Amino acid sequence: MKVVHKIGYVIILLFSIMGIAQNTTARITNDFNSDWQFKLGDYPTAIESNFDSSDWRKLQLPHDWSIEGEFSSKHPTKAAQAALPAGKGWYRKIFSLPLQWKAKSIVIEFDGVFKNSEVWINGHLVGKRPNGYISFMYDLSQYLYFGKEKNNVIAVKVDNDAQPNSRWYTGSGIYRNVRLVVENKLHVAHWGTYVTTPKVTKEKASVHFETTLINTLKVPRTVTLVTAIVDATNKQVAQVISIEKIVANASLKKVHTLEVKQPHLWGVTSPYLYKVITNVYDKSKLVDHYETPLGIRYFNFDAEKGFSLNGVPTKILGVCLHHDNGALGALENKYAVKRKLRLLKNMGANAIRMAHNPPSLELLQLCDEMGFIVQDEAFDVWKKKKVANDYHKDWDEWHKKDLEDFIKRDRNHPSVMMWSIGNEIREQFDSTGIAITKELAQIVKSLDTTRPVTSALTENMPSKNFIYQSKALDLLGFNYKHADYKDFPNRFKGQKIIASESVSAIATRGQYDQPSDVMKVWPTAYNLPFEGNKDLTASAYDQTIAYWGATHEATWKTIKKQDFMSGLFVWTGFDYLGEPDPYTFPARSSYFGIIDLAGLPKDIYYMYQSEWTTQPVLHIFPHWNWQQGQEVDVWAYYNQADEVELFLNGKSMGKKSKQNDDLHVFWRLQYEPGVLKAVSRKNGKVVLEKEIHTAGNAATLELISDKRVIKKDGYDLAYITVSMKDSDRNLVPNANHSINFEITGGGKIVGVDNGYQANLESFKASSCKLYNGKCIVIVQSNKTKEAITLTASSEEGIKIATITIKAE
Ligand code: GAL
Repeated sequence: MKVVHKIGYVIILLFSIMGIAQNTTARITNDFNSDWQFKLGDYPTAIESNFDSSDWRKLQLPHDWSIEGEFSSKHPTKAAQAALPAGKGWYRKIFSLPLQWKAKSIVIEFDGVFKNSEVWINGHLVGKRPNGYISFMYDLSQYLYFGKEKNNVIAVKVDNDAQPNSRWYTGSGIYRNVRLVVENKLHVAHWGTYVTTPKVTKEKASVHFETTLINTLKVPRTVTLVTAIVDATNKQVAQVISIEKIVANASLKKVHTLEVKQPHLWGVTSPYLYKVITNVYDKSKLVDHYETPLGIRYFNFDAEKGFSLNGVPTKILGVCLHHDNGALGALENKYAVKRKLRLLKNMGANAIRMAHNPPSLELLQLCDEMGFIVQDEAFDVWKKKKVANDYHKDWDEWHKKDLEDFIKRDRNHPSVMMWSIGNEIREQFDSTGIAITKELAQIVKSLDTTRPVTSALTENMPSKNFIYQSKALDLLGFNYKHADYKDFPNRFKGQKIIASESVSAIATRGQYDQPSDVMKVWPTAYNLPFEGNKDLTASAYDQTIAYWGATHEATWKTIKKQDFMSGLFVWTGFDYLGEPDPYTFPARSSYFGIIDLAGLPKDIYYMYQSEWTTQPVLHIFPHWNWQQGQEVDVWAYYNQADEVELFLNGKSMGKKSKQNDDLHVFWRLQYEPGVLKAVSRKNGKVVLEKEIHTAGNAATLELISDKRVIKKDGYDLAYITVSMKDSDRNLVPNANHSINFEITGGGKIVGVDNGYQANLESFKASSCKLYNGKCIVIVQSNKTKEAITLTASSEEGIKIATITIKAE
C-alpha cells in the first residue's frame, strides 16, 4: 500500500467523496441479450457483414435450442441427455456503436455457450471456446465501426453436434447472459480483483485486496486508485488511496490491506454482504469504477470436528444441482434460480454443490445473497472419457486455461468454500491420477489458497485411490457408500472429509408403491434387468434406490451422528433433465430430486425440513383416494413433538413416536374413504394438525402464483401451480386432465411442466397434462406495465380458473 503523502488533504478529501460516488460513466456494462437472430444448421458465410440473415429467427438471449425440440429416442443425445436435439446453430447480431466510444475498449462477455463456440466480429475470428460452461470475453475494439453509418455484425457459431458428449442434459446455444462492456483504455482488468479476509475477529477484519490495472494507451499514466469498502447500506467503512504509475501498454498489480471494524459476518442465516469499490482516476477524471462482492467470514474443516463457520460448528447440509432450470432447459434466468434456492432454503439446506461444472454467475451471486455454502466444481472428466465426445477431447489444450478462468471468476464469492477439481474422475483408479491431481491443485493454489482443494471420489480404499495418493487434496470428498464412513478416521488418519455426493434414491411426486417398507434396489447391480413400474415411476416413500446409493433416511442418519463428516451433498436437490436412471426412453429426466423438475416438492422434502430447520413440521402422506379395503401405509415426518396420533374418520389409529434414530413413523391402515387427520403433540399439547380428505370428482381448477407482482424487465418469471380440485377444494390426487392455457396482457408462457419424468409433451406448449393432480406454468413479463392474465381450462364440466399478475 502506498498512501501518498504528497497529495494534500483537500485532494484526499475530494477522492474520499468521489470514491464512493456511483459514477457509472467510467465503465458501461450493457445487457447485450436482445435483438439476436438465430438459425439451426451451419452457415459459415454468416460471418460476412453482407450475409443476408433476414429470414433468421429473431430472439432474445439467453437461448437454449435443445429444449425447444421434440423428444425422440432417435436423437444421438439419447435419454441420458434428455433425448432432445443438439446439432449446430448460428447466432448473429447487427448493432451500431456511438462515435464517442471510438476511444474506448469494447469487450464482449459470454457467461456460457454450449459448446465449441466461435465468435466473429465483422468477419474477424476473435476466439473459440470448446468448454460449454466456462465464462469468457473478447476485446472487440480493433475490429469495430463507430457512428451511425456503419453497422457491426457479430456472428457466433455453436457446435454441439458430436454426441454423446455428456452424462446429463447440457442444452445448446448461448444459454447464459451476454454483456457488452465499454471501458476506458485505463481500466481494472477482466476479473481483475481478488479479495480475501485473512484475519477476522469480532473487533475487526483485515481485508486483503489485489487490483490489476491495465493501461492500453501508448503513453504511461499516473492514476489515483481509490479502494473503498462499503457496507450493505452503501456506507463507506474503509478506504485506501494510492497514486500509481503504469507504463504504456502494461498492467500493474497492487495489493492493499484494509480494515473493517466490528464487521458483520457473512453466514448462512445472515449472509451480510459488503462491496469493495475500486475507482480509478486519471487526474480528476474517473476512468473506471469496478465492484467486487465481499463477505467477511472464516471457516475451517477439521479432521475430527468437521466444518465450522465463523467459529461455530456447522454441518454442511447440501444438495447437488445440475445447471438446467427444468422446463426452461439450460437457459439461465436469475428468477428461476432464485425460486430453486428459496425452496431449498425453506427445506433447511445451507449448501450447494455445483455438479459437475462451472455454474452461472447468477447462481453464485444468489448463493452469496441468500446464504449458501458452495462447493464449486470444475470437471466431470479429465483425460479419460466417460462418454465418447466429452471434455476429455479438449483436456490437453484447454484444462489449464479453463481451470484458471473458473477460479478467477469465482474466487471473490464469499459463498464459495471448496474448489472441487473433479467428480468421480477415472484417473483415481490408476497412477496417472497422481500427476494430474498435483498439477490441478497447483493451478488452483496459484490463484487462491484460502479454500481447500477437493475432489469427489468413489474409491475409498487408500491404496487404490491415486487421486488421494497424490496428497494434493486438502479435503477428501467421498461419494456414496455411507456404511464405510465409520472406518474413515482410521483409513484416512488426520484427513478432513465430506460426503461430496450421497443418497441417489429415486422417486416420482405423488406416486406411492404399497407396502412402503419393501426396499427396492433398481437394478440390483450394473446392467442387471429389473422390474420397475410399468408407468416408469418410482415410489415417493423413501424406498427405492440406485445400487450405488442409499435411502435419504439411511444416509442422513449416518452422517448426522458422525462429527468428523463435515456434511453431505444429497444427489440431488431437484430432478434434472437427462439421466433418467433406472429407466430409459421415454423416461427423459432424472428421479433423484428431493423436488421434482417442475419445482413441486416430493414428500421427502419434509423429512429434511423436519431435521434441518427449526420450524415445526408435520407432514403426512400419501393422498387418501384408494380402493376400499386396500392396505395403505401412512407416513408422518414431524419434529418438535413427542408423538403423532392418527385418526381415520374420527377414530384413533394409534399414537406413534419415533424410536431411537427413526426419522418417520407409519401406520398400516385398511383404506376407507373419508378424512385422515394427524395431530402432533408435545407434553400433551397440540403442536400441529394436518388433514387429508378423500377427493370427489374433479370439479374445478385452481391457480396459485408464487408472485402477485413481477418486474416488467422482460426476464422476471411467475411460477403458477395448477391443481385439480373437487367441489370441496380437495386436491384430486390422480387427476391427469389436459389443461389449456390462455394468456393476455404483458407476459407470455415460457414453459409448462408436470414433473413426470416420462412426459413427452413439449415444455414450450400452451397446454399441459396434469400429473397426479398438478402441473406448473411459467409466465415471463415483457417490457410493458400491463397486468398479465392467465386462464386455465380443461374438459367440459371443469370450472376454469383465472389469475392476474401485475407487472411493475
Ligand atoms: C454419481 C455421479 C452423478 C450421477 C449420480 C446418479 O455417481 O457422480 O453425476 O450420475 O451418480 O446416481
